[in-house]
Amino acid sequence: MPIIRILPHAEYAPQGKSIEAAAGTSLCEAMLEHGIEIEHACEMSCACTTCHVIVREGFNSLGEMDESEEDLLDRAWGLEPTSRLSCQAIVSNQDVTVEIPKYSINHAKEKH
Ligand code: FES
Repeated sequence: MPIIRILPHAEYAPQGKSIEAAAGTSLCEAMLEHGIEIEHACEMSCACTTCHVIVREGFNSLGEMDESEEDLLDRAWGLEPTSRLSCQAIVSNQDVTVEIPKYSINHAKEKH
């Protein structure tokens, strides 16, 4: 099974974490199943951006991005060229490394 490596994040994975995920699972589902409580305010229906992650390795192995994800990602906090909405990014047979951004759009609103 492919491995998803989560880079250290103060709140969700202070030491970083490696988890296994079956091909066909979304990054968000896989993280939640392994106790990484990433936000998913719209319940993974591609409507919120709080599940935003930056893919550091294996970006091209993930399922393709559709237009609604692309449009929504524009509103994510800390957008990068390899950003994905984790609830829409489907794992294939290859390992990936992801970084959970420091803030989600929810945090960003609270701070400003
Ligand atoms: S959980 Fe809302 S877009 Fe992923």
